[in-house]
Amino acid sequence: MSDAAPKKEQRRKFQAIRGTRDLLPPETALWNHVEQTAHTVFGTFGFGEIRPPIFESTELFARAVGGDTDIVSKEMYTFEDRDESTISLRPEATASVCRSYIEHGMQQLAQPVKLYYIGPMFRRERPQKGRYRQFYQIGAEVLGGVDAPAIDAEVIEMVMTFFDRLKLPGVQLEINSIGHAAENCRRGYVAKLKAELEKVKDRLGADSQRRIETNPLRVLDSKLEQEQPIIEKLPRIADHLCDDCKTHYAAVKRELERRGVLYKENWRLVRGLDYYMRTTFEITAQGLGSQNAVCGGGRYDGLVELLGGPPTKGIGFAIGEDRLILSLQEAKDAALAAGKQSPFVYIAWMGANACAAAVHAAKDLRAAGIRAELPPVEQKFGKALERASKLGAHYTLILGDNEVAEGTWTLKTLADGTQQKFTEPQLLEFLKKL
Ligand code: HAM
Repeated sequence: MSDAAPKKEQRRKFQAIRGTRDLLPPETALWNHVEQTAHTVFGTFGFGEIRPPIFESTELFARAVGGDTDIVSKEMYTFEDRDESTISLRPEATASVCRSYIEHGMQQLAQPVKLYYIGPMFRRERPQKGRYRQFYQIGAEVLGGVDAPAIDAEVIEMVMTFFDRLKLPGVQLEINSIGHAAENCRRGYVAKLKAELEKVKDRLGADSQRRIETNPLRVLDSKLEQEQPIIEKLPRIADHLCDDCKTHYAAVKRELERRGVLYKENWRLVRGLDYYMRTTFEITAQGLGSQNAVCGGGRYDGLVELLGGPPTKGIGFAIGEDRLILSLQEAKDAALAAGKQSPFVYIAWMGANACAAAVHAAKDLRAAGIRAELPPVEQKFGKALERASKLGAHYTLILGDNEVAEGTWTLKTLADGTQQKFTEPQLLEFLKKL
């Protein structure tokens, strides 16, 4: 190594890239609590976990999500690999799950196949509260089998049960049906919508004007103040659904009611990905400001076929985990519940004999599921107490050579300063009961 002072560029301080962030303790305890709850709740609905890769062929997302969508046309992190193939960091995971269903011949399994995933997604959006360039989703997909409205309702019931279990505040479910791609259904409606939009084009903003050509349905999504009275007067999709889609939608609503799931209908809920048909839904929660959609999903019956697989029914959702956590943090209760930990013991040892006993005590406490902090070097008693309280320990286990000779250990409760003497088995019994 050279002794020369580091050059200026070597002293550069690194920072996480814009739109990405470090998740740190103690907040990560809440993330784990949320994910553990997802494993438990989704498991009771018969879903198994899938872990697809984080990058895939760009073409997969372009075909599944749609080349004209914002996600594919503006927001993907795409790069050329060394073999000149084009690869993208996944902006979402439904495409990957469908690719995996086809690749592993899952149509041979008992249908439907119910899968869920948890992991990071990447979109180059403008960062703000609740919107990041690396964010996390908890999603689920039901593939194969029939398109019974009870499946749509059960998938929605599962998310709502999950949110209920987490005590997510102010949860509101909105649903819609966007029909299917046929002349007597959505295609006919979109043609009509486009014609109406052309008539009011000069009163619309630049984004909506562009969308008249690329994706007229997305104009309904606009939040622009000046466009609201215009949009209110546009033709509504519910009046243009074919008989089958109308019947399906009515049955989904009945099935939701049967399950006690409260919903609001929103005819403007069209979603920003191309693969949807029939049922679409979004869930909002409290404390999130403008980025308040905490979950989005819907039916996508044609997608597996579009990706080269057999005709397959599909429905699913994805929850924005970052937003879910933000909303839970606003409602402190859940955060506190997640933060409730098993007892935390700081082992204050003094003397060579006590050191060996302390190492064993730490091993035994940890094996019993109790957090134990073992100082690597001997500390004076006062110093040890100070450090224990700084770390937030509940107890200090005092081990000196005398205690070791006697075979009784002293446990000090930091909150009130009281002390109790135990043998090791008694101590473990006492802490495990807490
Ligand atoms: P999505 O609506 O694009 O749907 O995303 C789902 C959720 O991910 C959103 O409601 C939001 O909570 C969260 N989210 C999206 N972008 C960001 C971001 N930049 N920062 C933070 N959170 C974000 C999908 O991704 C579909 N694959 C859902 C699906 C699954 N549909 C059927 N199956």
